[in-house]
Amino acid sequence: ARAPGTSPGTAPEGERAVTVRVPAKVNVQLAVGGVRPDGFHDLANVFLAVGLYDHVTAAPAGPGAGCAVTCEGPGSDRVPLDRGNLAVRAAELLAAHHGRAPDVRLHIAKDIPVAGGMAGGSADAAGALLACDALWGTATPRHVLLELCARLGSDVPFSLVGGAALGRGRGELLTEVPVSGTFHWVFALADGGLSTPEVYRACDRRRGAAPVPEPEPDPALLAALREGDPRALAARLANDLQPAALALRPSLADTLAAGRAAGALAGLVSGSGPTCAFLAADADAAAALAASLEASGTCRAARATTAPASGAVLR
Ligand code: C5P
Repeated sequence: ARAPGTSPGTAPEGERAVTVRVPAKVNVQLAVGGVRPDGFHDLANVFLAVGLYDHVTAAPAGPGAGCAVTCEGPGSDRVPLDRGNLAVRAAELLAAHHGRAPDVRLHIAKDIPVAGGMAGGSADAAGALLACDALWGTATPRHVLLELCARLGSDVPFSLVGGAALGRGRGELLTEVPVSGTFHWVFALADGGLSTPEVYRACDRRRGAAPVPEPEPDPALLAALREGDPRALAARLANDLQPAALALRPSLADTLAAGRAAGALAGLVSGSGPTCAFLAADADAAAALAASLEASGTCRAARATTAPASGAVLR
């Protein structure tokens, strides 16, 4: 569907609607450390951008209009349309940074599962930053965009850069991770979402008072990415949030079992879930796996796609 306000002739002179495409992510390693004084967890978070995308359009709005947002696509009825929407906060943050009014109409065409553990909200924030920067002609340097991303959320910097990266700190301190070739993934989409803070809290409860080791990236996993070896990567996939997500949503165990029975090299919960991610040997195996998962009745839908995907890009 056309985003509101993108029909020809509605834009003031010099301002035309801008659309940004931004990818989902899967965490191939999510090592969760202890709780920090600020309530966040120290992470060693290996992000991989995957080929499921949201599109964020920024269209001109008149002086004093402020920032409004509309949303379409699966689950969009669960997306907040006020300042609870990270894309709105992104537009307001960028406007404040440049001392200008946040007048813009944002439209989000969602394909990334809502509250699915694939950084959909973070993607929309990164997309809104880039789209507003282009619409307003503010030409924000890349390193400043990345700082603004980090203020919006732990996963937002990665949504901007895409590819593959190691996130330290609360996940926002990125270093690029080399990847060879293409990895084939299938995502089993669930009905409804899971709340990320709830999953972290459940993880803490399950750990109790036991000491938590420093989260460290897994050298064998990084080698598998560097060498483009799906079997080696499958053997090292790890998500410390998975037990908590399974406890909150026990039916995900059936989804994981169905994917493994259907020939996945490995499966895991994506981030805080409830989306489940499966690695396949090649494109044909991924297509067959997606069909089996859909037939299994253990998910709402299954999507085959590839990684790594590019970060946020102007269309
Ligand atoms: O950074 P973001 O706002 O996306 O994080 C959402 C929630 O996830 C946080 O409020 C926190 O509960 C949890 N979180 C965490 N440790 C991190 C990242 C997120 O506890 N490193």
